[in-house]
Amino acid sequence: MALRGRRVVLGVAGGIAAYKAVELCRRLVDAGAWVSPVLTEDATRFIGALTFSALASEPARTSLFGGPEPIPHTRLGQSADLVIVAPATAKLLGKYAAGISDDLLSATLLATRAPVLVAPAMHTEMWEHAAVQENLATLRRRGVHVVDPESGRLAGGDVGEGRLADPSRIVAAAEALLSRGRDLAGVRVLVTAGGTREAIDPVRFVGNRSSGKMGYAVAEVASGRGAVVTLVSTQSRPVSESINVVAVESAEDMHREVLARFGDVDVVVMAAAVADFRPKVIAGEKLKKREGVPEVVLEPTPDILGALGESKGAQLLVGFAAETERLREHAADKLARKHLDLIVANDVSAADAGFEVDTNRAVLLDSSGAVEETPLLSKVALAGVILDQVAARLGLPPEGHP
Ligand code: C5P
Repeated sequence: MALRGRRVVLGVAGGIAAYKAVELCRRLVDAGAWVSPVLTEDATRFIGALTFSALASEPARTSLFGGPEPIPHTRLGQSADLVIVAPATAKLLGKYAAGISDDLLSATLLATRAPVLVAPAMHTEMWEHAAVQENLATLRRRGVHVVDPESGRLAGGDVGEGRLADPSRIVAAAEALLSRGRDLAGVRVLVTAGGTREAIDPVRFVGNRSSGKMGYAVAEVASGRGAVVTLVSTQSRPVSESINVVAVESAEDMHREVLARFGDVDVVVMAAAVADFRPKVIAGEKLKKREGVPEVVLEPTPDILGALGESKGAQLLVGFAAETERLREHAADKLARKHLDLIVANDVSAADAGFEVDTNRAVLLDSSGAVEETPLLSKVALAGVILDQVAARLGLPPEGHP
């Protein structure tokens, strides 16, 4: 449904799976999309541009130059609702991650603000190569969507991971992306992210393992769904331009910046791992080893959520509880103590959830008890689950986002 009437640039890079892009092209047209194919020069060695021209909504393009339009990449990039690259080869992913734009497809990828969906396909050795995986991680971080390859038969009789995803999966991912709702349009969301650093002296601090990934995911997903997002963060990770980032370091800084903005927001998601204690005295100069082992006396930091809970009006407060035991019990207690509307509890003792990794598994609780228990999800997907709960509590209708 979501593809009907939407403009899709279908990029085809030069791999053996290029022939499957023909089927994908046909399915996208059948779903009602206006499909503009763009083939790399290498792709034309595997499959003819004429085939795409015959099936797509307009003739296939293969070059930045020589066509009727003087600057085809900007027109294609600006008018697209979605850009799909299938197959995305190691070379194409490398160029895209590095920002190289030496042909029509790579230039179009840089010239678009539309969502981009890449479907990689290559031999297993290439797929597993650190360079390819790092390029993909970079692209993912920038918001590029990936339909992972499948395992199966590859060119040359080999078998393994790296086979282009079935066209039906790529069409489904495209549908899901385009039907993503803007159910949070205009909602003012403040998100905190990262672990705070509490200074011991000018060079040392007391910190924790939080990477900030969960908070960044909430900020990005909320922004994608139309929210006006302020991100108060101790980390400097890449983030969409639409997000207003306020850099902080300590719990004290975060407390100040969050409270100053509290009156102007509708929702606060405290994903930051705020230190509970800080050194009572911060040495003015670097502590010298020769002066012996220093005694660091700790004192409590301000409880930001606690303060928000005390002074809250109509705002919705979402907290996190990172626990290593008795998850629900501790989380329910925190929810009540801090006057929260929702708490996201995760078990940080698991290797695949919580700190530093890209995945998480959580129990969401409100004052009535557990409302949702998630399986292991990417932090981006978990952000979606949390924001669904937020939207429901704000009385906003769901809009069919994935
Ligand atoms: O540290 P604790 O497990 O109690 O943190 C639970 C929630 O409280 C988190 O959402 C965290 O961001 C928030 N918190 C806070 N101020 C603190 C400590 C934690 O707002 N000083």
